[in-house]
Amino acid sequence: MKTILVTGGAGFIGSNFVKYLLAERPETELLVNLDALTYAGNLENLLEVQNDPRYVFVRGDIRDRALVEELFARYRFDTVVHFAAESHVDRSIVEPEIFLTTNVIGTQVLLDAAKRHWKLEPDNKYSREYREGVRYLQVSTDEVYGALGKTGLFTEQTPISPNSPYSASKASADMVVRAYHQTFGLPVNITRCSNNYGPNQFPEKLIPLMLHNARNRKALPVYGDGMQIRDWLHVKDHCAAILTVLEKGVPGEVYNIGGNNERANIEIVRLILQELDRPESLITYVQDRPGHDRRYAIDNTKITTQLGWAPAYTFQQGMHETIQWYLDHPQWVEHVVSGDYLDYYARMYGHQA
Ligand code: NAD
Ligand code: DAU
Repeated sequence: MKTILVTGGAGFIGSNFVKYLLAERPETELLVNLDALTYAGNLENLLEVQNDPRYVFVRGDIRDRALVEELFARYRFDTVVHFAAESHVDRSIVEPEIFLTTNVIGTQVLLDAAKRHWKLEPDNKYSREYREGVRYLQVSTDEVYGALGKTGLFTEQTPISPNSPYSASKASADMVVRAYHQTFGLPVNITRCSNNYGPNQFPEKLIPLMLHNARNRKALPVYGDGMQIRDWLHVKDHCAAILTVLEKGVPGEVYNIGGNNERANIEIVRLILQELDRPESLITYVQDRPGHDRRYAIDNTKITTQLGWAPAYTFQQGMHETIQWYLDHPQWVEHVVSGDYLDYYARMYGHQA
């Protein structure tokens, strides 16, 4: 892997991955970060790498075929890691359409470009030969499997059964990725990950939202009875898993990624209140999310046994570090909450935008 296209690299997981890859693989020649800078994209997540000569930022939309085509032609990528997406379930309930266009059509645009530029005989529809060493990795989610009852785990064989417009769009994208492998032989992997937490997560998601509210002594809105279960994974463990799949994954295979770490939402909320020394009276039960999935839990046997990846963080250590990161970066949180981060692009790139 020498020249890599990362989409959505200004978001939560993407920005952690950009920093992780450039640090872990100094031999990387070029990493191009293609990000539209929607409300979820924040270049302040990437201050550490913005002057790295191996790093290029392109503001653009994955649905823009001409742009994606031009980038493939100019940079001759050998690897694509596709994070860019509309990622928040609650937003997908209010505004489903953009989830379908970004998450499904955007994926298909990238797949088309990869196929055209990587195929040895691009005009031969029967040819399945590709340039040596190329790989397309689709970052998907455990939500495509739907919801679990009290027992059981998601394996890679669990039927796809999405319940929200968000998870339906991610499941659809997965099906398109699968089809490009089956029909055209494109070397792809799909990773399906459980809930991530860690630095730089947008405070619309459970952990940073509750941290922000607790810090400011505001109500903590818990959906329904708060007994929904998620399987939490530190974002750095996720980044390590993605790199492992890029380097060792078998083309065409799906890998589940999870931290063996199931927690009820209310348990997380209480932990945050405890760590910040705030009273439980801040907990406010609110109306449940429509179609709310009750429980997610990943069986990560395939990636641990076949590729040798395992999560390194314990939940205690990961949460402690995460809480500390948010406390140590009040300005980052302030800029996000006030919307000031949206000006960052104009300030940094205004002269060339
Ligand atoms: P995020 O919302 O923090 O970031 C998404 C990024 O994509 C932003 O930088 C945004 O500007 C960019 N983007 C959105 N639409 C775009 C478009 N049309 N063109 C170019 N860029 C665009 O998301 P995240 O939490 O970092 O999630 C990243 C990926 O991982 C997503 O595909 C998501 O489905 C998946 N995932 C997330 C989690 C999680 O817990 N956060 C878990 C499993 C899988
Ligand atoms: O499982 C992976 C998925 O995890 C990713 O694919 C998604 O991109 C990511 O957003 C996340 O989805 P969830 O819906 O699980 O995450 P969220 O942080 O929105 O919610 C976590 C749980 O907390 C969920 O059960 C809903 C609940 N919740 C959330 C919010 C924002 C609340 O009780 N109150 C809240 O205010």
